Amino acid sequence: MEYNFDKVIDRSGTDAEKWDGMMEIWGRNDLIPLWVADMDLATPPFILDALKKRCEHPILGYTRKSDGYYHAIINWVKARYGMDVKKEYLNYVPGIVAGIGMAINAFTNPGDKIMIMPPVYHPFAWLITRNHRRLVECPLQLTDGHYRMNLELFRRKIKGIRLFILCNPHNPGGVVWGREELEAIANICADDNVIVLSDEIHADLTLPPYRFLPFAMVSEKARNNSVTFMSPSKAFNMAGLAASHTIIYNKGLRERFSAYLEAGELNMGHLFAFPAVEAAYSNGTEWLDQCISYLQGNIDYVIDYLKEHMPLIKPMRPMASYLIWLDCRALGLSQKELNELFVEKAHLALNDGEMFGKEGQGFMRMNIGCPRSVLVKAMQQLEEAYRMFR
Ligand SMILES: Cc1ncc(COP(=O)(O)O)c(C=O)c1O
Repeated sequence: MEYNFDKVIDRSGTDAEKWDGMMEIWGRNDLIPLWVADMDLATPPFILDALKKRCEHPILGYTRKSDGYYHAIINWVKARYGMDVKKEYLNYVPGIVAGIGMAINAFTNPGDKIMIMPPVYHPFAWLITRNHRRLVECPLQLTDGHYRMNLELFRRKIKGIRLFILCNPHNPGGVVWGREELEAIANICADDNVIVLSDEIHADLTLPPYRFLPFAMVSEKARNNSVTFMSPSKAFNMAGLAASHTIIYNKGLRERFSAYLEAGELNMGHLFAFPAVEAAYSNGTEWLDQCISYLQGNIDYVIDYLKEHMPLIKPMRPMASYLIWLDCRALGLSQKELNELFVEKAHLALNDGEMFGKEGQGFMRMNIGCPRSVLVKAMQQLEEAYRMFR
């Protein structure tokens, strides 16, 4: 079956954060929304059908996680990443951010130190500080337009750290971390008893020819000392369903985390989550292949267009997912002026790079998970603003 990703779908009035949330942030809703990380492409029909089917039954009572739900996750991670997962390794969490917050509370105490590598998905820092833990940063190094981990600094800063939050694939840079860096992290963390929380929410959107390597698959040390966070929410565009899960191989860590969740019934989930996850992972391969190939086309379009018409805006080609990190430093603008260029002049809503850490100054994050025609319009608007600025 050929899926149509070109269809423009109006999401206004559905309380979509990306569309109806613009008024709150920018005081206007006439911008092209290229910010919040979900896609303006239809959620696959087999997921919508599973939800409709559930609604055909007139009672929405307490609901268990079906065997089908567990099998679908287990089969998916085995087929895609070679992971051997048993049912008892899994826990439902209502979202990755919520789940990381829960893990912070399960594994650390107020005042404990937690490390991240900025620029990185901004809620990591909030989760640490709002839960009254101490934020320690080990910034990524940017060389020749590519991010690398600063392993020297990581080694130096690791003493006294309780948790490290890894973002793999990396948001906002789109990096799929390689075995060497992951292995080094695994060794350093295991030697210093630092638990690794690996946020792998964008993994299923890894773009060929790159291949995703889950942190837990790097080595025995990594497997034994980590919590993996996954979800079909990004790849299958179902983030509103709050359906994510953790994989924990180590029995001790698993028991601690499960005990924390169960104490507040935080892993109970809801009746729409389970059939949707099952439908996504049981039927999703073909749809996802086509979607990835469409996104790849969008990425090529934006990168080629910028190169030809706006050479001072330098995109970082993502190895996964639909977020493009734009290096705008050559424009020589302050962050305020940069935002004005995108919002006031180009009428586009992107994420301000600075929200990912001070290392994001001079950058903007663009979400290209939308029909191509929307991007064509967005690029024309940006080019006009760029020309005025030049
Ligand atoms: C790296 C990363 N983690 C987590 C999330 C959010 O996940 P959730 O909605 O499940 O909390 C996002 C969404 O953009 C993300 O990019």
